[in-house]
Order: sequence, then structure tokens, then C-alpha cells
Amino acid sequence: MFTKDSIIGIVGSGAMGSGIAQVAATAKHSVLVYDNNETSLAKAEINLKSSLQKLVEKQKISSEESESILSKIKFVKTLNSLSICDLIIEAIVENIEVKKKLFHELEKIAKPETVLASNTSSLSITSIAAACEKPSKVMGIHFFNPATIMPLVEIIPGIATDEAITKASKTLIDSWKKITVITKDTPGFIVNRVARPFYSEALRIYEEGIADMATIDWAMKEIGGFKMGPFELMDLIGHDVNYVVTETVWKQFYFDPKFKPALAQKRLLEAGFLGKKTGRGFYNYAPDSQPPAPEKNTDLGTQIFKRILAMLINEAADTLYLKVASRDDIDMAMTKGVNYPKGLLKWCDEMGVDNVVKELTSLKDFYEEDRYRISPILKQNFILRKTFY
Ligand SMILES: NC(=O)c1ccc[n+]([C@@H]2O[C@H](COP(=O)([O-])OP(=O)(O)OC[C@H]3O[C@@H](n4cnc5c(N)ncnc54)[C@H](O)[C@@H]3O)[C@@H](O)[C@H]2O)c1
Repeated sequence: MFTKDSIIGIVGSGAMGSGIAQVAATAKHSVLVYDNNETSLAKAEINLKSSLQKLVEKQKISSEESESILSKIKFVKTLNSLSICDLIIEAIVENIEVKKKLFHELEKIAKPETVLASNTSSLSITSIAAACEKPSKVMGIHFFNPATIMPLVEIIPGIATDEAITKASKTLIDSWKKITVITKDTPGFIVNRVARPFYSEALRIYEEGIADMATIDWAMKEIGGFKMGPFELMDLIGHDVNYVVTETVWKQFYFDPKFKPALAQKRLLEAGFLGKKTGRGFYNYAPDSQPPAPEKNTDLGTQIFKRILAMLINEAADTLYLKVASRDDIDMAMTKGVNYPKGLLKWCDEMGVDNVVKELTSLKDFYEEDRYRISPILKQNFILRKTFY
């Protein structure tokens, strides 16, 4: 279905669209990028040139490679210019109505066999596809930020997507030297679902006053081996993005308390304290501000880490139990999409399922909230003394 000569169209020249264009051009495809905002389009072209220049300076690519990539990407001013594309990847604003309208228009201008893909982080692929007369050729191809660096791509067939299109898209993205995982079209797919407790349980511990944010971040890094703590990471992602993903996932799961957003984060969003990019989020990034010191208490740190990890494992296990993705893809997604030190199902086996169930049972008994319900597959593994691997 796709070959090296397949022409790739990108709609949306923001952070994700530009990155995906660079990845496709590096894989030697001709790429056409369209954005309905001419300023964004012009900015994307300037940014691409400067990011390639930096790669040349750092000797990551040669100047010939940089020129070849540049020559492969054309920034176009009309949607109609994408009519020659074989695959069009949409990376516009995260709004279902705007995306549906675009897909409806894309189907009209594209060739009948052109595959239409969305890079959405949290919207339903099936719902986007329903805007098209042929939803069988619509699917999700979800890159992570920055697309040029993060190896993971989630491949998401909607319920009407043709199986051959899913397979061909996976093969194509694999040929772009990315690591692909297949996931069902469910809220947050794999990564944005399984990672929710990393933020939400940390926020809960913080809201309850069990520990402050610096201590929680310290525990997850020093004891847990995570590259960043939850509060640092939320500040980096931006509360406008991170809170909205949490809220979208929660709403799409019919307000399941497991995914409930935290007021502490909502208030930051309301105040415009969006994180590092605005100079203030949970932390203050003003040049003269001193970062708060963590309480380096190993017992407290271990308690925090075990609680957050148990909640993460519970979500990974439930994702497997509900057949959203395979065991290997769930573990791969978390290590390659968000740099977790280990796959969560493997981590469960290493810790012993009895320890994970014990931790979750004590949370459930204490709080008596549905948020802490234990995934049936963990209970099964516990009773049958089974492991995931
Ligand atoms: N930023 C991330 O971390 C990240 C990661 C994975 C997926 N995503 C998803 O990728 C998509 C794009 O995110 P982003 O961060 O690149 O956004 P962005 O705001 O950086 O860029 C979006 C671009 O789309 C353009 N646009 C908006 N509506 C359009 C339309 N109707 N037609 C053509 N162009 C239009 C805007 O002018 C803008 O240049 C979203 O669906 C987002 O959820 C984002």
C-alpha cells in the first residue's frame, strides 16, 4: 500500500506536525505541510531550518542530509495541494468538531485510496472517522513530543478501520525507525491512560498533605528511578495540556473516579500558572527563586513510591485485562513513550503481585473509594500465583 515514493501530507505545522514532517522526510518521503495559519506555516519553515542547522553543528547529521531533508519538505498554502498525498496525518488543534470538519474536507480532496490519520492524544478515532464517507481508511497514528526524538508511535485503528490499512501504516511507521504499538481506540490509548496515576496519585498525596511536591518528586526519582518527578513533569508538559488530557480521559470514561482530575492542578490552570513556559506552575521558575528542598526521609519516600507505582501497575494491568493492548505493547509503550525505567507489568512480576495487591488493598480499605479498586487480572494472578511474564 505504501512505498518509499508515497507522498506524505501533514495538516498542522505546530510542534507535532513539524516534527512528524521532519521524521517522514528523514525517511526519504516527499512531504507537504499545510496550516490554515500562514504565520504558523512560515514559523515552522524557519524552525525546521534552524533545528536542522543545530543537528549539523552537533554533527548528528551531515549538511548533505540536512539539505536533502529540507528539499523533501514543501510548505503549502492550500489544503487542495494535499490531493496528491498517499497518507495525510492531521496534527491540528485538539478539538473534535474542528478535526471532524477537517477530515470531511480531506476526504473530498484526497485520492480514493489515501489513508487519513489523526495524531490526536485523547480523542476518539472512531468519532473522527465517522465524519468521513469511508471511515475504513481513517486511523490514529500517535507520535510523542518531540516527534523527532521520542521513539514510540501508537497505531490506533478505529472500529471501522480496514485491517490492511492498520497493518500497512504500522509497517510504514516502523520503516521510519519508530517503535510502534497497536492499541484499541479507548480514551488515552495506552500511554495517556496508563500514565494518569503518575500525576493523579502524586496530586492526591500532595493534596492530603502527606508530603510536599519536592519530596514526592525526590521519592519518584531517587527511590523509583524515574527521570523526572510528577510535579516537575506536569510543569514541563504544561498544565493546559496535562490537565486537559486528564479531564478528557475522565469524561470519556464516564467520570470513572480512577481518572478524576485534581483541584490543585485546576487552580494552577485557572491562574494561568501553566508551568515552566509561563515561569510558574507548581514550582517558581523566576531566576532568583530558590527551589524547595525535599524531605529526604527514606521511609516516607518509599511509602510514596510504592503507592504511586501500585496505582500505575493497577492501570497497566487493567489495560491488559480489558484487551486494549498486548502485554508487550503496554510495557514497551511506557518505556519508549514516557521513559519509565521499566515496563509496569514486568515491574509487577519483580515486586511480586502479592505486594502490589497488598498495597492496593490497604488503600482501598482505608479510603473506601472506587478509585482504588483492584484490577481483576491482579486478583487472578494473586490467587493463581501467576506472573505476567
Ligand atoms: N504537543 C504534544 O505534546 C502532543 C503530543 C502528541 C500528540 N499531540 C496532538 O497533536 C495535535 C497537535 O498538537 P500540537 O502540540 O502540535 O499543537 P500546536 O498548537 O503546536 O499546532 C497546531 C497547529 O494546527 C494549526 N491548525 C489549527 N486548526 C487548523 C485547521 N483547521 N486546519 C489547518 N491547520 C490548523 C494551527 O495553526 C497550529 O499551527 C493535537 O491533536 C495534540 O493533541 C500533541
